Amino acid sequence: MPEKNANLSDHARRVREMFAGIANRYDLLNHLLSGNTDKRWRRLVTKSLQEVLSAEGSRALDVACGTGDLALALAKLTGAHIVGTDFCRPMLEVAAHKAATNVSEIPFVEGDALALPFADESFDAVTIAFGLRNLSSVEGGLKELWRVLKPAGRVAVLEFSRPVVPGFRALFQFYFTRVLPEIGGMISGSRGAYQYLPDSVSRFPDQKQLAAMMREAGFAEVEYKNLTGGIAALHLGTRPRQSLNFGCTTT
Ligand SMILES: C[S@@+](CC[C@H](N)C(=O)[O-])C[C@H]1O[C@@H](n2cnc3c(N)ncnc32)[C@H](O)[C@@H]1O
Repeated sequence: MPEKNANLSDHARRVREMFAGIANRYDLLNHLLSGNTDKRWRRLVTKSLQEVLSAEGSRALDVACGTGDLALALAKLTGAHIVGTDFCRPMLEVAAHKAATNVSEIPFVEGDALALPFADESFDAVTIAFGLRNLSSVEGGLKELWRVLKPAGRVAVLEFSRPVVPGFRALFQFYFTRVLPEIGGMISGSRGAYQYLPDSVSRFPDQKQLAAMMREAGFAEVEYKNLTGGIAALHLGTRPRQSLNFGCTTT
């Protein structure tokens, strides 16, 4: 289907250019617009993987790692070997600079989350934070996470979701769709990028739908935790020892 493929690569190109344009202001805006809550959310991801990453020599991959905050937190708090990957070079350059400043030896590898440049079954844990929503295919992204995960390995997906308390949801929606694009646009110089944020969240599956998609992709023990009233959610899953996924090719 050439027409479909052309659309997919156009989506990827636009997303990559958008992040390239805000790479230098990305961290500042993340922390400012979330009141530093994003740091606490990333620490929770790390905590949830501590057990699976406790063994000597364990390895984790942070997909769509951006400027590397989650990769750095994973390296610091688990001691596992961490690799970060993203398809936007300017975001990776910020990540590499931060790793060098923190004396952290994390390889940051340029790669597409829909065709990860890693062998099947190579990581004990795989994470993706605020990345899945940006892919042209959520199903395709989940398949790739599953493919590179070892049997019994754990996946953690941190993503914006649906606030669960009605009054709070309305208040947050106002902030997210009206206030955030203005402030984000002013500071980053790209209003489009901060308008894209609420737009892409509104198109993304909610907590239950994402859990169902993860099960569909072959993950077992799928569970999720609402963070800050459901503004974000942390979904966890395990790749079963016995493969139930017929859509992935592993040898
Ligand atoms: C909102 S940022 C999240 C960055 C980081 N994980 C964090 O928690 O701050 C989304 C990242 O996903 C990356 N991304 C989007 N689509 C991608 C794809 N197809 N392959 C690899 N990276 C992708 C972007 O380049 C960007 O760095």
